[in-house]
Amino acid sequence: MMHKVKGIEDLSLHGKRVVLRVDFNVPLNPDGEVSDSGRIEKSLPTIDLLLKKGASIVLVSHLGRPKSSRDSGLSLLNVTKKLQELMPGTKIQFSPISRMAEWEKTAQDLSSGEILVIDNIRFFPEETSEKESERKKFAKKLSELGGIFVNDAFGACHRENASVMELASFLPSYAGLLLRKEINILGRALTDPERPFVAIIGGSKVSSKINILDSLIKKVDHILIGGAMAYTFLKSRGLRVGNSLIETDILSRASQIIDRAQFNECGFFLPEDHIISMDFSEKGKIKSCGLEIPEGWMGMDIGPKTIKKFEKIIGDARTVLWNGPMGVCEMPSFAEGTMAIARSVSKVKGTTIIGGGDSMAAIKKTGLEDKITHISTGGGATLEYLEGKKLPGIQALIDAE
Ligand code: 3PG
Repeated sequence: MMHKVKGIEDLSLHGKRVVLRVDFNVPLNPDGEVSDSGRIEKSLPTIDLLLKKGASIVLVSHLGRPKSSRDSGLSLLNVTKKLQELMPGTKIQFSPISRMAEWEKTAQDLSSGEILVIDNIRFFPEETSEKESERKKFAKKLSELGGIFVNDAFGACHRENASVMELASFLPSYAGLLLRKEINILGRALTDPERPFVAIIGGSKVSSKINILDSLIKKVDHILIGGAMAYTFLKSRGLRVGNSLIETDILSRASQIIDRAQFNECGFFLPEDHIISMDFSEKGKIKSCGLEIPEGWMGMDIGPKTIKKFEKIIGDARTVLWNGPMGVCEMPSFAEGTMAIARSVSKVKGTTIIGGGDSMAAIKKTGLEDKITHISTGGGATLEYLEGKKLPGIQALIDAE
């Protein structure tokens, strides 16, 4: 499912103004400062290339899901500060929502090599409006900020948002380097993976990953399941899971997934032992147990036997896709499963793809990031792309041709 979207490499951009949509939806610490600049760094090659070609940039991004423009905690000011830190020699201006009336004029005054960051685009309800006509009208206004549109916001491409989708119909439109890298690597994994192809899927909810599991069953050789979603699967097969978090409303759907995996000859591996706790914290009693979890206890991480088994399957793989933690990894007592998987994935001799914030953070903690072929910047976008869905942001670039 390789897409042919036009890239920016061959464009001549001297003196042109580019409206660049990025996904700078980064985590912030309680003081509002950027706590992980990974997504910003991943778009730097696109920004650098545009500036090197003599363009100026009007940078557009969302941050979180603001309810209104008064949600000042979600202003892009601190994100702009981080960008400035990463690009010390570049003149970067930030224009808050209060200066919106001047955006067009400020954009026109940009010189080659300069950047204007406009405030969180989701401060405008039209950006995410369900009405196409409202989004179109808003996109038309945004298009007046430049002469070319470049979309590098892979992480937002699954959203029908004005600056992701409709904007492409008003300006000559191109894909940034990050967007192209994402779709090339993810596309290759889907169409022509080296085998064995192993998917490691974790996280708390089966319901949020049911579509991707359904689709992966037909594509990969083995699926390894961790995180709280494992307890729903175990329960669906009649096993005792104590007080573990489960989704009772989708037990039969979960059981069907296991049956379908068997039918498609896809190995479907659930944890065989667990690290369990009396409550959802590290403070109480913690111990390990076998396949079934006793009453009064809840599963918090995969156990040592499961880690060993998963490591063996991962060790033989030639393509690995990993999305979601194996346990409650934000609590150190329950992080070993996720960290062991991170170490194991980093040793694979083949293509390794990681998506999702927690798996990304785990690989960073091991310091083995550079051993991974591709750390996807997308969360939902990566999953929907791998499901084989058409992402509106990418489709808009194709339609714009
Ligand atoms: C993400 O973090 O997955 C993207 O930035 C999209 O954000 P959203 O889920 O708020 O649309």
